[in-house]
Amino acid sequence: MYRTHTCGELRLADAGATITLAGWVQRTRDLGGMTFVDLRDRYGITQLVFNMETDADLCQKARKLGREFVIQVTGLVAERSNKNTKIETGAVEIEVTNLEILNTSDVPPFTIEDNSDGGDELRMQYRYLDLRRTPVRNNLILRHKMAMEIRRYFDAHDFIEVETPVLIGSTPEGARDFIVPSRMNPGEFYALPQSPQLFKQLLMVAGYDRYFQIVKCFRDEDLRADRQPEFTQIDCEMSFINQEDILTTFEGLVQHLFKYTKNIDVQLPLQRMTYADAMEYYGSDKPDLRFGMSFKNVTDLLKGNGFSVFDSAEYIGAIVAPGCSEYTRKELDSLTDFVKRPQVGAKGLIYIKYSGDGSIKSSIDKFYTPEQIQVVLDSVSATKGDLVLILPGDKHNTLGQLSELRLEMGNKLGLRDKNVFAPLWVVDFPLLEWDESTQRFYAMHHPFTSPKPEDIALLDTDPGKVRANAYDLVINGTEIGGGSIRIYNDRLQNRMLSLLGFSPEQAQAQFGFLMKAFRYGAPPHGGIAFGFDRLVSLFAGLDSIRDTIAFPKNNSGRDVMNNCPSTVAQEQLDELNLRIEMRKPQA
Ligand code: AMO
Repeated sequence: MYRTHTCGELRLADAGATITLAGWVQRTRDLGGMTFVDLRDRYGITQLVFNMETDADLCQKARKLGREFVIQVTGLVAERSNKNTKIETGAVEIEVTNLEILNTSDVPPFTIEDNSDGGDELRMQYRYLDLRRTPVRNNLILRHKMAMEIRRYFDAHDFIEVETPVLIGSTPEGARDFIVPSRMNPGEFYALPQSPQLFKQLLMVAGYDRYFQIVKCFRDEDLRADRQPEFTQIDCEMSFINQEDILTTFEGLVQHLFKYTKNIDVQLPLQRMTYADAMEYYGSDKPDLRFGMSFKNVTDLLKGNGFSVFDSAEYIGAIVAPGCSEYTRKELDSLTDFVKRPQVGAKGLIYIKYSGDGSIKSSIDKFYTPEQIQVVLDSVSATKGDLVLILPGDKHNTLGQLSELRLEMGNKLGLRDKNVFAPLWVVDFPLLEWDESTQRFYAMHHPFTSPKPEDIALLDTDPGKVRANAYDLVINGTEIGGGSIRIYNDRLQNRMLSLLGFSPEQAQAQFGFLMKAFRYGAPPHGGIAFGFDRLVSLFAGLDSIRDTIAFPKNNSGRDVMNNCPSTVAQEQLDELNLRIEMRKPQA
């Protein structure tokens, strides 16, 4: 036996026992006649003590231990005179009688501490050292616990986990595919799944009416804090259900996860908001409902009074920042700079300060009487002490700008607390999205999403107005999951594909197998997929999903530890019958 206990296990009750531990040297301290070593493993840290008087050789050996050496020690558990209440083993120390150096270590390039001195890139290069740090380890432990609870919930609800293939044909989920050349079929390629979408639908045709899978998905898209090129979904599908059944089943999962991994009680049913309302009142299909500040439409109140900025606007929207009426010139200027940033894109910011003493000061005093301003304040339900912020412009862009401004004010006012969770369903998404640049419709969710039955007639007359039986789970302004009730009839599926610009031949070539399956008794079905990395990151209070993933990619999609992607040997290309000819990258 290498060890009798872990480094997180020993307590005062163990005093007097002879034990063996193995682990990594966190740090050594020499205090004259005594040398202390903090020994670390996955479970915690235990203090070792070496005494010059009792065993000078052993003490000398301990003094030479470097950081991250791997050692095995045997010794006596003793009560510590100077207890450390910050760690669970802090009441004891080990009076070491034997020390084996199992392996030495180079000096690590950064400190293996909760707050490391290593920069991001360096830590990723030595990710195996980074993973030794407690906060990173805790994220992985949380991820594991969540995966276990997910499986427990689904198993209890009669779902079965089925694995689907990784080398597949393309699944259109809106991103680019990663492709893999086939040696046995020269000139042909597999795609890596953007999701198991088609397979889970085929499992429904096959009669597996409750499927789930914790599954890797691959998408070649621009990366952000909440996007990785390979990520994990909690993927699910159910048959003989309607939208209500899906929402109920999966909000049950959300409640279960909060309860059993964070001990937080989530009240069901979750709030629901239509896509139209989310856009109108929060300017986003993923509103952060940890705080209010929804938008008020003040177009009719402010237009037509000779102020050209307002008179030329299609829409004028306002938000009320509570308790901010005493914002200084400087603070207002900085907010104006914020909305004028290219990422936000507003031309300027208009404000009305409604001071605690009832006095009113605004940047549009010249154009409106105090009575008119008071009407605006009343209509947006501002109270004394509030600051009203107003943006005008075309409706679509202004809603987006107000959304950024609202989130910024939420940050400034400390209203986006990571320990508060505000989940909701956003429902009734449009089926299609018109793209000006390519002059065609795209599926807002994916091409297998069913239109609402009452909107099917609009497919012929006004496709942009058709609403889908699609829903997203949003928590704290992040899209955690998305799904839909599916089309399960080949005629409607063909109709949808043709609206999306697929010729009958293309539709047949890419999705013929699905349409064929629909002709063999496809049940009504629907499903959802949650982004597992995003969910863990939210539960762990992280800003990026990277630290929930053991070996993530950086923002250029690189694994800087094993330096991939990389070129391959000529023989590999020859085997694949491929020749690489680099073209100039397209602008
Ligand atoms: P969707 O494309 O909405 O739906 O993806 C589901 C969820 O997966 C997460 N996600 C990501 N997480 C990290 N990195 C990425 N690059 C990334 N892309 C997506 C998000 C998202 O909500 N097949 C459908 C589901 C269905 O209809 O059942 C699908 O994949 O949290």
